[in-house]
Amino acid sequence: MMEEGAKTLSKKKGSPVLPDMRGYFGEFGGRFVSETLMSALIELENSFRKAWRDATFRKEFRETLAEYSGRPTPLYFAESLTRKTGGAEIWLKREDLNHTGAHKITNAVGQALLARRMGKGRLIAETGAGQHGVATATVAARLGFESRIYMGSEDVRRQSLNVFRMKLLGSEVCPVDLGGKTLKDAISEALRDWSRTVRNTHYLLGTAFGPHPFPLIVRSFQSVIGQEVRRQILSAKGKLPDALVACVGGGSNAIGLFHPFLGEDSVRMFGVEAGGRAIAPGEHAARFAGGSVGVLQGTRTYVLQNPDGQIENTHSVSAGLDYSAVGPELAYYRDSGRIIFDWIGDTDALDAFQELSRQEGIIPALESSHAIAYGIRLARSMSRDQTVVINLSGRGDKDVMEVSRILSMKEVDKI
Ligand SMILES: Cc1ncc(COP(=O)(O)O)c(C=O)c1O
Repeated sequence: MMEEGAKTLSKKKGSPVLPDMRGYFGEFGGRFVSETLMSALIELENSFRKAWRDATFRKEFRETLAEYSGRPTPLYFAESLTRKTGGAEIWLKREDLNHTGAHKITNAVGQALLARRMGKGRLIAETGAGQHGVATATVAARLGFESRIYMGSEDVRRQSLNVFRMKLLGSEVCPVDLGGKTLKDAISEALRDWSRTVRNTHYLLGTAFGPHPFPLIVRSFQSVIGQEVRRQILSAKGKLPDALVACVGGGSNAIGLFHPFLGEDSVRMFGVEAGGRAIAPGEHAARFAGGSVGVLQGTRTYVLQNPDGQIENTHSVSAGLDYSAVGPELAYYRDSGRIIFDWIGDTDALDAFQELSRQEGIIPALESSHAIAYGIRLARSMSRDQTVVINLSGRGDKDVMEVSRILSMKEVDKI
């Protein structure tokens, strides 16, 4: 699966291999960390590069995904939604059908297998929506690691189901009561823990973000999404899709879908950020709409910050997109024009959450609902003989209570 995927990644002649040896994607990325973490990151990079070249490791990764996580996930033609929308055919990549309910498990499996090879006995992770925390707790249980998950206290409140799942799986959950009490604050705490415990601990970062080599590692594991889509759409339609759509938190489900298609000029790609309540400071998480280039948590990228470089708080109805910086590789492809970025606000995401539930009998995660809302709009502007693939990054069970709370408040507002 992996080897085949690597072959099908059609690199254009002369296009650079990214990241470069220093971990840069053009001017983005790099490794801005303390001395203690520098040696840990170099050890991690060397171990990853060695493992990735090793057919035994690839086989173990591939087989664990197939046997434990249920890959490949289906590519599903959303016939009813397509008919209602009018325009291009809408296909959904069903990452919600992975074990634990989202794409996050793929990266967690890959990094946990790597950590085991490196002789580490403990995993730590950050989580926003709780999906990555659950994925980490799951692989820790499966492979016998001790584990601790850092989570902003605001996210602990709105994702209580996932908090319970993590504890049930045997992980310790540490609420973080600092800053905006969301994902950024959880990452900071996890990095602090790692700098004290690097000898026996692997930091299982959950998205294509952070200091090199994390963006490379996470992209490599998650590219299985795009590799599968490529095979599946060719088999179903006999041609590549016209457009790909994915929501963007740190960027792992988006780069995972997009990467195997970057060399295909005919395939347009759209990353969807969280527009929250409005594109105004503190009200959204659309880094490309309201951010500027800066350094945050070890990497150079687009960041929501004020003119003095203070990080702005963020807001999104979806905890997994509620983050003030974006993965450096996506920043590079945004500036090069290869990937188009736009945003969807809370209200449209909530509408898409309900629309997909009613039209297809699939309750999407609030994060994925941003991609669904944008994908519907895009499909409507395209012709019937074209296809749009939307990454349905996760299922919405974790969000049902929060959506019910928001919708009942709206009902009260109407009275
Ligand atoms: C279901 C789901 N989709 C998307 C995301 C966003 O993360 P990423 O941008 O790394 O795919 C999350 C994050 O928690 C998530 O849980």
